Amino acid sequence: MTRLAGKVALVTGARVLAVQTDVTQSASVQHAVSEAHTALGPVDVLVNNAGINVFCDTLTMTDDWRRCFAVDLDGVWNGCRAVLPGMVERGAGSIVNIASTHAFKIIPGCFPYPVAKHGVIGLTRALGIEYAPRNVRVNAIAPGYIETQLAHDWWNEQPDPAAARQATIDLQPMKRIGRPEEVAMTAVFLASDEAPFINATCITVEGGRSVLYHD
Ligand SMILES: NC(=O)c1ccc[n+]([C@@H]2O[C@H](COP(=O)([O-])OP(=O)(O)OC[C@H]3O[C@@H](n4cnc5c(N)ncnc54)[C@H](O)[C@@H]3O)[C@@H](O)[C@H]2O)c1
Repeated sequence: MTRLAGKVALVTGARVLAVQTDVTQSASVQHAVSEAHTALGPVDVLVNNAGINVFCDTLTMTDDWRRCFAVDLDGVWNGCRAVLPGMVERGAGSIVNIASTHAFKIIPGCFPYPVAKHGVIGLTRALGIEYAPRNVRVNAIAPGYIETQLAHDWWNEQPDPAAARQATIDLQPMKRIGRPEEVAMTAVFLASDEAPFINATCITVEGGRSVLYHD
């Protein structure tokens, strides 16, 4: 990728492989990694990005706990264990797990998503320490509000979506919502040789929102 006037764009001619994958299924993730290896060579970088919002009432939810954890935590673990053997063998690798500010702060009514995202931080720290001697780094990113389909789906569930979006903007110290490429650029940094001594930690990408004391 390259930066063009603040945007991230694919470099023309970059080789890309798309493999349809269900991260809740270990075999499916193993298959994707194997396909990538065959087409492009050893996998040195993994970004575990797939995730779903599961916001429920704790006492009335049914299979939502399992549905949430299957994607938001098992999915991350399935990705890690698919690439770790190769990374350990080569003595090099970088994994970036997409967590959330929900991994540190609790918003009432958003259960059990933050529990799974806390788990992503725990997994990142555990694997980061486990594989540090093998030169495999494992880090996380905690995005705040980022303008993706996920955010639009949530606003659209509110009685007045436009008002809900504006209320979100009003809560932000920078008075705007984050852009997907701002998370992507952080992932590129963490995965790159520009971050060789950053391991087992988490970078927040949320414009300072979690530092603010009052709404
Ligand atoms: N958008 C935000 O405000 C925000 C904030 C904090 C964290 N996040 C996290 O960022 C990550 C990306 O979210 P996003 O905002 O781009 O959401 P998104 O809904 O736009 O994209 C999520 C992607 O995950 C994929 N996915 C879902 N279940 C899957 C499965 N079982 N197997 C494979 N892929 C699956 C979806 O197809 C989709 O492409 C997620 O982990 C999310 O929790 C997003």
